[in-house]
Amino acid sequence: MTIEPRRLVDTLIVGAYIEARSCERFFRLAPYLDQELNSFYVSLLASESRHYQDYLNMARQYADEPIDERVCFIAEIERQAILTPDKEFRFHSGAAE
Ligand SMILES: [Fe+2]
Repeated sequence: MTIEPRRLVDTLIVGAYIEARSCERFFRLAPYLDQELNSFYVSLLASESRHYQDYLNMARQYADEPIDERVCFIAEIERQAILTPDKEFRFHSGAAE
């Protein structure tokens, strides 16, 4: 018996979000870089975009039901983490209090 049967799917969805956010950061930063670094970041962007899709595909593979609702639920948790002030400002914190 699995204690947390949906944990793997949630972990894969969170992994997809991490990869997607990396993809977005490379997309935003690339235009401000010199040609060599720009090309490197664009190649990383392409990799990250494949990775987030891979994570979502694996989540779908291991889930016993559609994952769309869970993807939205985790997006809401991320949104709250971003918008909720934190006492200590960190790289992935929300706004500082
Ligand atoms: Fe990645």
